[in-house]
Amino acid sequence: MSSVPRTHRNIALIGFMGVGKTTVGSLLAQTLHFEFVDTDKLIEQRQGRKISDIFAQDGEPFFRNLESELCRELESTSGRVIATGGGLAVTPGNLDSLRTHALIVCLWASPETIYARVRHQSHRPLLQTPDPLARIQDLLTVRTPAYRDADLIVGVDFRSPAETARQIASSFRLGTPLDPS
Ligand code: S3P
Repeated sequence: MSSVPRTHRNIALIGFMGVGKTTVGSLLAQTLHFEFVDTDKLIEQRQGRKISDIFAQDGEPFFRNLESELCRELESTSGRVIATGGGLAVTPGNLDSLRTHALIVCLWASPETIYARVRHQSHRPLLQTPDPLARIQDLLTVRTPAYRDADLIVGVDFRSPAETARQIASSFRLGTPLDPS
């Protein structure tokens, strides 16, 4: 939790792959009449290629740079719900950047829930390994400190996207982040 008082012009959703940032984010944007931005989608549109192709052709560091540049660009925006790619909050500097304008909400799920949700999907290059569950557990261990640095952490193992969106909207309207996890 940050103790620095600041105004929240936006909401940024962070958290691991498969926790539902895009689904929850678009519901939340509708509820608040905010614009919805998905960093992965925006990067794909601008690059004119899929994230898996960016990773394959230019490597992960190139993709991380694109994410960091986009983060800086978003600092001047307002009235947006920003769904971030699962690794964006982990790159040094990006959380601090988001903190300058957004309420940062982490969607949290257990490795087993994440695995159940992503196991039949093939568009995430980091999970294309023989043992995706082990990969999820390893990445979560490394990423947990960054995810835990959010203003609000919402557990999604037993919450529907609509319920999660409602909960975040209430906290945002109250202006006092709660930790209901
Ligand atoms: C990544 C998560 C993906 C995407 C890329 C890398 C990560 O986004 O940015 O494949 O490092 O966790 P989602 O969290 O939307 O799947």
